[in-house]
Amino acid sequence: MKPIISCSSQSICCFFSVVHSRMIEIQTQMSERAVELLNLPEGQPCFLLDVGCGSGLSGDYLSEEGHYWVGVDISNAMLDVALDREVEGDLLLGDMGQGMPFRPGTFDGCIR
Ligand SMILES: C[S@@+](CC[C@H](N)C(=O)[O-])C[C@H]1O[C@@H](n2cnc3c(N)ncnc32)[C@H](O)[C@@H]1O
Repeated sequence: MKPIISCSSQSICCFFSVVHSRMIEIQTQMSERAVELLNLPEGQPCFLLDVGCGSGLSGDYLSEEGHYWVGVDISNAMLDVALDREVEGDLLLGDMGQGMPFRPGTFDGCIR
């Protein structure tokens, strides 16, 4: 798993790595459930939209499952973290409340 933060102090690092591991675990479980609910075709890569993709932890799960994805997030700072982590999805700055700039039918599914 790609690091979400890096720091120099060992004790702070230890604390954050525990928090980080828990965050990854939760985001991964949530993404797993979201994908399960989409009932996608078995063993077939799909094109998914990740709304509120944040730092891309959920996107990592999608990539690990062999899917392609586009992530949208309202926060530039979160997208910067995702960029630093070199996530595989394409990233877009946007507010889901303002609608998504994609044609209907572009995606096989969407997670939030
Ligand atoms: C709990 S985080 C999601 C984390 C992400 N799924 C991950 O795995 O790293 C929620 C994200 O939703 C984003 N968000 C909140 N309101 C939004 C909106 N109106 N449009 C798009 N993104 C939004 C936040 O910036 C935040 O990154």
